[in-house]
Amino acid sequence: MPEETLSITDNRTATSYTIPIEHGAIRAMDLRQIKTSPEDFGLMTYDPAFMNTACCQSRITYIDGDKGILLYRGYPIEQLAEHCTYLEVAYLLLYGELPTAAQLEEWAQAITHHTMLHENTKRIIEAFRHDAHPMGVLASAVAALSTFYPEAKNVHDPAVRRLQILRLLGKIPTIAAYAYRHSLGYPYVYPDNDLSYTENFMNMLWRMAEPKFQPNRTLARALDVLFILHADHEQNCSTNAMRSIGSSLADPYLTMAGAIAALSGPLHGGANEAVLRMLNEIGSKDNIPAFIKKVKAGECKLMGFGHRVYKNYDPRARIIKQIAEEVFEVTGRNPLIDIARELEKIALEDEYFVKRKLYPNVDFYSGIIYQAMGFRPEMFTVLFAIGRTAGWLAQWQEMLEDPAQKIARPRQLYLGHARRDFVPMEQRAVAELVR
Ligand code: ACO
Repeated sequence: MPEETLSITDNRTATSYTIPIEHGAIRAMDLRQIKTSPEDFGLMTYDPAFMNTACCQSRITYIDGDKGILLYRGYPIEQLAEHCTYLEVAYLLLYGELPTAAQLEEWAQAITHHTMLHENTKRIIEAFRHDAHPMGVLASAVAALSTFYPEAKNVHDPAVRRLQILRLLGKIPTIAAYAYRHSLGYPYVYPDNDLSYTENFMNMLWRMAEPKFQPNRTLARALDVLFILHADHEQNCSTNAMRSIGSSLADPYLTMAGAIAALSGPLHGGANEAVLRMLNEIGSKDNIPAFIKKVKAGECKLMGFGHRVYKNYDPRARIIKQIAEEVFEVTGRNPLIDIARELEKIALEDEYFVKRKLYPNVDFYSGIIYQAMGFRPEMFTVLFAIGRTAGWLAQWQEMLEDPAQKIARPRQLYLGHARRDFVPMEQRAVAELVR
C-alpha cells in the first residue's frame, strides 16, 4: 500500500519534510514546522473564502458536488424526502439515526410543548415597523430568546443543550409566523398542539376567524419536504457562522441569530427572494435571450444558479421541481414556472453556463412554490431558516462535542504598513484613504 504522506521540499532552505495525509487532507498546523530560521513564524496556507480548507471533521452531511449527491447521515436526500417528516429528519441529523415510532412520538411531543413564546417576545416583534424585513425580525427575536433562557449559556451540559434544541425547533416557526402576521397587521395565532409541526406553522400563518384551522394536506406535505431539503448542507456560509460563533461558547440563541444573519444574504439563503424578483423582471419567455446576454456580459447574475460545491444538478432542485407540480394542482399554476423552466433549458445548453458548470440550485424553484402558496418574497428566506434550524443545531452540537475544536480564529497575511511613528495634525498631508 502506498504511504499516506506528503513530501515537501522548501526551496528557500533546501529542507525536506514528510507530512501525514489523513482522510485526504494534511493538517495545516503540520506546515508550521517549515521555517527559514528559528524566529520565522512558520508556513501558513492562504485560503480566502475557504475554497480548499476543511474546518472540521463531521459525520452529519455528505455532498458529492460533481455527482450531485446529498446524504444526511448516509441516507440519500431523495429517500428522506419521500418517506420522512421534517421532525424525523431533524432527529436523524441531531442524533445520528432515524427514530423508532416511540422515539419520534416523544420527540414530536417534546418539540410541540415548546412552540409557545413568552408574551414579551411578542412585544419585541410588535416593536418593529410593519415593513420590517422578516429576516431582521427573526434574527432579533431569536437573539432575544437568549435573555429569557439564561441557563442556555451552559453549553457543555447535554441536558441544558437538549432543552434549548427543543425550544429552538419549537419556537422558530412561531417567531416566523408572528413576523409574517406582524407585516400584515394581523393578530398573532397561538400554536395548536393537535396539528403536526408544519400544519401548526400553517395554522399560525393563515388562520383567520375560523375556530379550527384545516390545513391542506398537499401543501402541508410540500412545505414539510421543503424543510427536509433545507435541513442541512454541511459547511455552508451560515453553518460556518453557527460553528464559528458557537466556538466562543456563546449561547445557542445568540449563535443562531448570527447564522440567520449569514443566511439572509442574496448569495446564500436570500437567493430565493432574488430569483423571484429576477423572474418578475424578465416577465416573459421572449425576454430570456436578452437577459442571458446581460448575465454573460457580467452585468448581473442568473440567481438560483451556481454553487460552491455542486458542479452538477443540485438534487434538491430536482425534487423541488416535482413538488411544484403537486402544489400547483392545489393553488393553480404560477406562470413564473414556465419562465424558470425555459431559462433553465436555455442556460443548460449555453456554453457560458456549461463551461462553468452552473446548474440550478435549491433556490431556483423554491420561491415559485412559496409564492404559489401565498408567501411574499420577503418570507422565503425565513422558510429556509426554519428548515435549516435542525442542521445548524446538529452542527453546533457536533462542534461542542469535538475535542479537536477550539475557538475559531483564522490567521491573516498582514500586508499593511510596517511600524511607523505618529504624525501630529499640523504635519499631516491629504493622503489617499483606504476604502
Ligand atoms: N450567474 C452567472 N455567472 C455565475 C453565476 C451565476 N449565478 N454563478 C457563478 N457564475 C460565474 C462567475 O461569474 C465565475 O465566472 P468567471 O470564472 O468568468 O469569473 C464562475 O461562474 C465561478 O463563480 P464563482 O463566483 O467563483 O463561484 P463561487 O463558488 O464563489 O460562488 C455562488 C457560488 C455564490 C453560489 C454563485 O454561484 C452565485 O452567486 N450564484 C447566484 C446566487 C445563488 O443562487 N445563491 C444560492 C446558493 S445556494 C444556497 O446558498 C442555498
